[in-house]
Amino acid sequence: MGALAEQQMKPARVADRTAPWWQSAVLYQVYPRSFQDTDGDGIGDLPGLMRRLPHLVELGVDALWLSPIYPSPMADFGYDISDYTDIDPVFGTLADFDALLDAAHRHGIKVLLDLVPNHTSDRHPWFEESRASRNNPKRDWYIWRDPAPDGGPPNNWLSEFGGSAWAFDPATGQYYYHAFLDAQPDLNWRNPEVRAAIYDVMRFWLRRGVDGFRVDVIWHLIKDDQFRDNPSNPDWRPGRPPNESLVPIYTADRPEVHEVIAEMRRVVEEFEERVLIGEIYLPIERLVTYYGADLSGAHLPFNFALLNAPWHARRIAQLVDEYEAALPPGGWPNWVLGNHDRPRVASRVGRDQLRVAAMLLLTLRGTPTIYYGEEIGMADVAIPPDRVRDPFEKNVPGIGVGRDGCRTPMQWDSGAAAGFSTAEPWLPPGPDSGRENVTNQRGDPGSLLNLYRRLIAARRRHTALTRGSYEPMAASGDLLVYVRRHGRERVLVALNLGPEPVTVSLRGDAAEGRVLVSSLGDRDGEAVTGELYLRSHEGAVVGLDPAETHGEA
Ligand code: NOJ
Ligand code: MG
Repeated sequence: MGALAEQQMKPARVADRTAPWWQSAVLYQVYPRSFQDTDGDGIGDLPGLMRRLPHLVELGVDALWLSPIYPSPMADFGYDISDYTDIDPVFGTLADFDALLDAAHRHGIKVLLDLVPNHTSDRHPWFEESRASRNNPKRDWYIWRDPAPDGGPPNNWLSEFGGSAWAFDPATGQYYYHAFLDAQPDLNWRNPEVRAAIYDVMRFWLRRGVDGFRVDVIWHLIKDDQFRDNPSNPDWRPGRPPNESLVPIYTADRPEVHEVIAEMRRVVEEFEERVLIGEIYLPIERLVTYYGADLSGAHLPFNFALLNAPWHARRIAQLVDEYEAALPPGGWPNWVLGNHDRPRVASRVGRDQLRVAAMLLLTLRGTPTIYYGEEIGMADVAIPPDRVRDPFEKNVPGIGVGRDGCRTPMQWDSGAAAGFSTAEPWLPPGPDSGRENVTNQRGDPGSLLNLYRRLIAARRRHTALTRGSYEPMAASGDLLVYVRRHGRERVLVALNLGPEPVTVSLRGDAAEGRVLVSSLGDRDGEAVTGELYLRSHEGAVVGLDPAETHGEA
């Protein structure tokens, strides 16, 4: 079947009454500042997102996660919130948000918000009260400590964005803790009033119809109650981010955080069919504890293992095995290739491997998240020094921590600002936007964009790809092969991670089938018998013929 035929047949997702929607969904992260500007200020906005909804409908994604759109001084581009229950004027109004939510829902697309409960902006009225005096009723909403005997910070805790995590407040003679910028004071999650306030924020949006949250740095919420110094990290070397010189055992991943997450989960469950996703950068064995005891935690603790995995077949197969084995019973997996904090996949694995990466993301067992622009292969953009906006890069310059390069405007067409804006965009569009853009790729059946569409369509058609088990088959040299199985349906995925062509021999009851999706779009429908030849950097999704021995439904 040709590429276009595959796209046009878009059957409704097979209803699975027992499984929640987010298990078979494809999530799509939008960085709203960079998606589409409509008011000519060079910054993306909600009406822009509304205008580009057809792109997301055509792509076939099931849910959008929007990075923060709340009122913010934008010291950390919205991750410093000064009002949790409104929309920043740069993005639009609550009415714009309601209209977007409504339009998305009419297209069957869910909308998730970014919840940032770990810290507020220092301009949030809660912090303004808290810092007003030592006996202000909100003093204990944040983390205040006396200076050390020498007048310095209370302990050695470091900010993720460079320097001490403690900022001195001369007016009240104490330090406050900030895991990120000093303009982002951490809330005190040991205080029940803080918890109640954020749970009310969640209810505000859930009542409005929001389908769930991605919770920012959820593993940071609770800090050591004894404020012990973090130990030093013997593996740290100059040139690595300065905060990594300590092992953050007392500032993150504290045991009591799981109680808090379970409470958040209960708030989400006051409403039907909502999802709680947690941002967590931890090794797999720690990550999976965030499903919570008896799955009382996050529905999806984000799995970032692929963000820094070496791009080798055996290494990837190993980490999939490790992750699959570590999941608690009933814990649903998920996969991520990129986000607004990390180098883009195109820059990590190289353009040649983008199709293989897409195929991997969309055929592994679990919920995939696509980062905007990934579907057209956007790469990190080199940011000239005078255009740096990211506070992390400004505070810790020159060692490659800057995040502006992965946050550049979506490349819609070959126009001046890539179709993103009529003005100078807040960050420069990619130099390749004249060629690599949505308009060009839409018209090319063999494009990366159309591969994403074909893969997402194949997920809708083949339950094995969404609900099926994961069975590793081979990982040697540059070849990675696995099977997804659901009842009698079996789908084989074969990926060539290198430039040399390779022949996969298929044996026994996995010997015959038909190509469902080929990475270049020119082999869909091809019959497969006994072996599958893969060209340089090629991948194929093959529907295997039902085997007699697997007749049980
Ligand atoms: C994680 C977010 O993804 C990142 O962009 C932000 O700077 C920090 N949390 C602080 O909120
Ligand atoms: Mg704008």
